[in-house]
Amino acid sequence: MKTFLHILPFGLLFPIAAAAEKVELRTPATSFVIELAKGAEPMFVYYGPSLTATDAANLGVPTDANWSHLSLYPAYGATHMQDEPCLAMRHADGNLSTQMLIDRWERRSVSDTAPNGEPRQGEELTVYLSDPLYPVHVELHYLAYADVDMMEYWTVIRHDERRNVTLTQYANPVLPIHRDNVYCTHFTGSWAAEAQLSEHALEPGTLLIQDKDGTRNSGMRRNEMLFALDGPARENEGHVIATALLYSGNYRILVDTDNTDYHYYMAGPSPDNAEYHLRRGETFTTPRSAVTYSTHGTNGASQNFHRWARRYQLRHGNAERMILLNSWEGVYFNINQEGMAQMMRDIKSMGGELFVMDDGWFGTKYPRLTDNCALGDWEVDTTKLPEGIDGLLRDAREAGVKFGIWIEPEMTNTVSELYEKHPEWVIKAPGREPVTGRGGTQLVLDLANPAVQDYVFSIVDRLLSQWPDIAYIKWDANAPMMNHGSQYLSADDQSHLNIAYHRGLIDVCQRIRAKYPDVIIQDCASGGSRVNYGLLPFFDEFWVSDNTDALQRIYMQWGTSYFYPAIAMASHISAVPNHAVFRTTSLKFRCDVAMSGRLGMEIQPKNMSDEEKDLCRQAINDYKLVRKTVQHGDLYRLNTPYDADRQAALMYVSAQKDEAVFFWYKLETMKNHHFPIVRMAGLKPDAMYTVTELNRIDKSPLSFEGQTFSGAYLMNHGLLLPADHDVEWNRRNDWASRVLRLQAR
Ligand code: GLA
Repeated sequence: MKTFLHILPFGLLFPIAAAAEKVELRTPATSFVIELAKGAEPMFVYYGPSLTATDAANLGVPTDANWSHLSLYPAYGATHMQDEPCLAMRHADGNLSTQMLIDRWERRSVSDTAPNGEPRQGEELTVYLSDPLYPVHVELHYLAYADVDMMEYWTVIRHDERRNVTLTQYANPVLPIHRDNVYCTHFTGSWAAEAQLSEHALEPGTLLIQDKDGTRNSGMRRNEMLFALDGPARENEGHVIATALLYSGNYRILVDTDNTDYHYYMAGPSPDNAEYHLRRGETFTTPRSAVTYSTHGTNGASQNFHRWARRYQLRHGNAERMILLNSWEGVYFNINQEGMAQMMRDIKSMGGELFVMDDGWFGTKYPRLTDNCALGDWEVDTTKLPEGIDGLLRDAREAGVKFGIWIEPEMTNTVSELYEKHPEWVIKAPGREPVTGRGGTQLVLDLANPAVQDYVFSIVDRLLSQWPDIAYIKWDANAPMMNHGSQYLSADDQSHLNIAYHRGLIDVCQRIRAKYPDVIIQDCASGGSRVNYGLLPFFDEFWVSDNTDALQRIYMQWGTSYFYPAIAMASHISAVPNHAVFRTTSLKFRCDVAMSGRLGMEIQPKNMSDEEKDLCRQAINDYKLVRKTVQHGDLYRLNTPYDADRQAALMYVSAQKDEAVFFWYKLETMKNHHFPIVRMAGLKPDAMYTVTELNRIDKSPLSFEGQTFSGAYLMNHGLLLPADHDVEWNRRNDWASRVLRLQAR
């Protein structure tokens, strides 16, 4: 194959090959086409709705862009001086320039095991690149799923130079997005206010989204991003590209918009203070990116992510989740045996299936009475729990519920037996005192250290081997990296800490899942600071936020639903005034919000009246009727809480479209406020649906209770919902919400 030089403006020379081949990867509804030629760089051609064979054959590399920009893998220093590079390195001899050209490529059918342990099928394209001057080799991998509209891509970097090569940038390949009228949506927040939606037009310049927490990566900035290609995002119409980095560590995402016709999206682990010394023969594999394309708006993109997640990226994504009571907001650290047994009986009496004992159960030399000690000392505090875990499991059996337990295995406190024994296990800058976090004493253990990995594994291993009846673990992580330093890594390799920590974490998770495939594990980190697809293959669900206020949860769950399915969103009914925002919402409203996710409770039932317990019993009972639809159905976001009309609505529709559940929330009460009718979505137009109100508190039924309507009517018009509840005068308040079950006849 002959290579010639393409002359670019400004006299730059850029090698391209004479005989190029176009390679198309397909998912059920999308095509991705790239152009490959030996000795050239891999070039972007197309990503979008499925192409016909003729279209695919006739497409070429778009000519309206600067050549060098449509390279999928620009490397720094030889031809890509003006572009944001995916790869930059210092070679062993100090040379900072790299050029990655194609050696060969291959496609293969994939029939393997997805990260969550489920079998999967697809097709994978591997493009092998190398530098003509140095023995540096990169594989670009693209995997297209056969049954879901999702493509994953990642790289593997290695070299045969005599001495170490230093990687200074290592992002995944570029995804070019044509500059039409592109709006970008991403998510920001803080503790107790996670996943707030932010949407804006993409402007010239570079949009940088990055997280530097170190241990967790989603509390303040999420690594998922959505691009509406034809104006501001619409839920059920319009073309949308949605993408996520499947990674738990620090990341950097760039969207570069220069003087060409494309926006260039690039994501990878953050290279900040993280240069990596790659040994000869060692491989450096980047975390995967996942991308989908929807012609059905934002909601279509969310559905694609949810389907892929439930099948391949979330542990036990096909199972149903139990309804649970978690002890945290109910008793905080005031744990004792009778208190736990009482909570078990109470949740059982309301129809729940699982009780989880949160923080505060451990520590003997330093009992965990508050948050300033004992992390790492995972021995039962027998003053609080004289009969230990055996006694708790017995009580759970007697109450008729499963039992779960809280741990925070990556952490310790300066006040702990673990730290006394292993001060060398904590993350700490050399020569300095460690910087502490929560409680003034919390420290992060150094998962770069294999001994620490073994120890973290042993915490779970011990619990589950000694007490195999433990059905659920809440795995928490309540501290960021507060100073830089590994006491395990060499002085030269201190910059490996961020990468090595997360490799260590994943390694531990893999070991746990190899030995304990069935246990349910919740991914929690100061609330929603670890909502990422890097970890979810090992976890069944995540805690959305430490803020359980129903009103603010509507916003947080809304934002989270863009990329994550309801089955993974732990959503709990809690007490009022709410412990995070001190708002008093009605119990009905709290139940209705919690029922739109994985329903649970986070409350002291002892403090509830019989009437309140009855309402929760009814909510739990009703949730069981629609649990399958909420947890496995397709989500339709109908009315955003961010709009001025002060209502929010969403629904879930079963795959067969024979069952649906509709949620409506009033966000604000103003007299003489007129709520537009919410049109439903996702139903079969010609099917007839019978409507039943769930979790009803009104004295009289809604006018349409038990009536049957066509899917067409429900989607074209919708049901007229009263803005208030019909309850006794002295029970009125300013909260209103509805949950409607639709069953096709
Ligand atoms: C974190 C979690 C909470 C709770 C506490 C316990 O804040 O997000 O749900 O488990 O820790 O200390």
